[in-house]
Amino acid sequence: MSRVGKLVVGVGAGIAAFKTATLVSQLVQSGHRVRVVMTPAAQHFIGASTLSALSGAAVAGESFDPARYPLGAHIEVVQDADLLIVAPATADLMAKFAHGIADNLLSTLWLQAACPALLAPAMSNVMWEKPAVQRNVAQLRADGVHFVGPDEGWLSCRERGAGRMSEPEAIQAAAEALLSEP
Ligand SMILES: Cc1cc2nc3c(=O)[nH]c(=O)nc-3n(C[C@H](O)[C@H](O)[C@H](O)COP(=O)(O)O)c2cc1C
Repeated sequence: MSRVGKLVVGVGAGIAAFKTATLVSQLVQSGHRVRVVMTPAAQHFIGASTLSALSGAAVAGESFDPARYPLGAHIEVVQDADLLIVAPATADLMAKFAHGIADNLLSTLWLQAACPALLAPAMSNVMWEKPAVQRNVAQLRADGVHFVGPDEGWLSCRERGAGRMSEPEAIQAAAEALLSEP
């Protein structure tokens, strides 16, 4: 039986970010509390206004915001979270997560998170198949990080192959399964 939780949804800079709007809406409709964190580059792909309206909370994106987050946004946003979802998880973010690089709010908050993490990678098939990306994925799996997808199918680079972000329903199902674990 899944439980309602506090979820942090990180959004990386990929075309698939448009699907994250649906994911956030569906998570909220299922009763979860959702906080969205965007990387600076993700704002080229989807507007913070969309995600703040759908989540019902201000989107976090700035590491340095002492007026709102005296303890640091990387600490306050992920405090007491039950699950950290990153969708889309870019090649860049996964490299940072695998190597402990903390150079933006999402990559810093990753190191602060005490909850399970679920990544939904999205990228071109060429990127996905690169040894460096696969090495980072293997490292993250070894670190206990959970993955959903990527799926095979139509990619925005006008190819078919592996790298398509899983659909919001599949990401939510993977999240609910993790939340239901004791
Ligand atoms: C049109 C366009 C689409 C992109 N799509 C992806 C993508 O799906 N996956 C990915 O890993 N990078 C993609 N990139 C590259 C990332 O946006 C880039 O590596 C960026 O620095 C990642 O930032 P972030 O990881 O901080 O969000 C794309 C870039 C452009 C210009």
